[in-house]
Amino acid sequence: MSVVSVADVENANGILVIGARDILTPLAADRAKELNVRIERSGSPTKATSPALASSQPAIQTRPKTAPTVKSRSDTSSVQPTALSGALYRRGAPVPANMRVQKDPESAPRDDQPRVAVIGAGHVGAMTALRLAETSLFSRVTLVDIVPGLAAGLALDMWHSASLRGFTTRIEGSTDLSALEGARYVVMTAGRPRQPGMSRTDLTGVNAEIVGSIAEGIRNHAPSSVVVVVTNPLEEMTHLMAKRTGFPSHRVIGMAGVLDSARFCSLVALEGIARPQDVDAIALGSHGAEMVIPLSLATVRGRPLEELVPKDRLAAIVERARDSGAEVVKLLQKGSAYFSPAESAASMVSAMVRGGSDLIAACVESAGAYGLENARIGLPVRLGTDGVKEIVKLPLRPDEQAALAEAARSIAKRISELG
Ligand code: NAI
Repeated sequence: MSVVSVADVENANGILVIGARDILTPLAADRAKELNVRIERSGSPTKATSPALASSQPAIQTRPKTAPTVKSRSDTSSVQPTALSGALYRRGAPVPANMRVQKDPESAPRDDQPRVAVIGAGHVGAMTALRLAETSLFSRVTLVDIVPGLAAGLALDMWHSASLRGFTTRIEGSTDLSALEGARYVVMTAGRPRQPGMSRTDLTGVNAEIVGSIAEGIRNHAPSSVVVVVTNPLEEMTHLMAKRTGFPSHRVIGMAGVLDSARFCSLVALEGIARPQDVDAIALGSHGAEMVIPLSLATVRGRPLEELVPKDRLAAIVERARDSGAEVVKLLQKGSAYFSPAESAASMVSAMVRGGSDLIAACVESAGAYGLENARIGLPVRLGTDGVKEIVKLPLRPDEQAALAEAARSIAKRISELG
C-alpha cells in the first residue's frame, strides 16, 4: 500500500496507474481533476476519480517539491512515500501510524527554555527582540508596544525570517502588559529617544512616566523576572524601575556599560593597532558625562593600551566614546543609535540564560562596593541566571577611583531630583 500524492499526479503524463490498495489523497484527486489526469487502479476496471473526493479546498505547499518522477504507482515495492505533508490529508483522515510526521526535537522550542519579553517595539526594542530570537535560547520572545499592531506586525515579520536565519524561538507581539506572564527576563526599551541637541537628562520627565507605569505591569505580570533597563536617562530609569517594581537590586540591571565599553574598543581599533575584539576595556560610572574608562586596566592582546597609544590620542578616544551616542543622534537627525545598543542588551540577557557572563559593566546598586554606599552606577559585575551574581573589585588607580566617586555623586543628585 502506498500514498498517492499531489506531486505524483503532477508528474503523471495524462494517466496514473496506482495499486489496488493505494491511498489516493483527496487533494491528489482534486489535482487529477484539474490536470485531467486519469487515475487507474491496477487490477480493477478503469474508472475516473471519485467525484465524492472533490473539494474546493486549495492545496497548501508546506515545503519545496521533491516529487518522485514516477508515472505508475503500481509497483509499490520500488516507490515509497517520503515525508508526509500535512497538506496530503483533510482533517480527520486516517494517517497510517508508520507514516505520521515525527516531531523533530530540534525543530521546536523546548519547554525548559525561558521566555523573554521586550517592552517597546521601537528601534532598540525590535532589534533586541530579533537578536534574542536568533540565539534560539528562548522558547518565546514577546514584544510589547503601546502602538496598536506595531509589536504584532514586527513579531510576525521577524518570525517570517526564522527559516532563513535558522532560529526556533517563537516571536509574538502585543499591546498588553499581561503578555509578560511567564517571562523570566524583561528588557525595558519603551520611551522617547534623544533628538539632536538633547541631553539624556532632557528625557527624564516623559520617560519617568512611561517607566513608572510599565514597572507596575512588570511587578504584576512577571514578578520573578530579571529586568534589563535600556530607557534613558539610564541611571535614573534603572533606579525608578527598581523602586516601582520593588524587586531586589540584583534583579534590576541597567544596560550602558556593555555598550560604552564596546564603543571605546571599536574606536581604539580605528587607530589601526588591533581589531575591536582584541581590545579589553571597561566603561564604568554613568552613561554620559561621568563615564569612567580606567585606562590603567585597558589592554590590547594583553599589552597595556597606555603603552601603545599616545596619551593625548587616548584622551580624545575616551572623549569620543563618551559622546558617541550624541554623535550618532546628530548624524541621524531623527532618533538615536540602536544596532549596538540592541546587541548590548541582548548579549546581557543571553549571558544570563547561559548561566553567567564574563566581566562586564552594568548599572547596579553599589551596596558599598568601591566605597560607594547605595549608588546606582556602572560597575564591573558578573551576571548569572538570576541577575547580578557579584560586583567585582578591580584595582583602580586613585584618580580613577576618585572619578567613580564623583560620578556617583552626580548620579545621586539627578536621582534625588526625580522625586
Ligand atoms: P523608539 O522611539 O524607536 O521606540 C520607543 C518605543 O517605545 C516606541 O515604539 C513607542 O511606541 C514605545 N512606547 C512608548 N510608551 C510606551 C508604553 N507605555 N508602553 C509600551 N511601549 C511604549 O526609541 P528607541 O530608539 O528604541 O529608544 C528607546 C529608548 O532607549 C530611549 O529612551 C533611548 O534613549 C534609549 N536608549 C538607551 C541606550 C542605552 O545605552 N541605555 C542606547 C540607545 C537608546
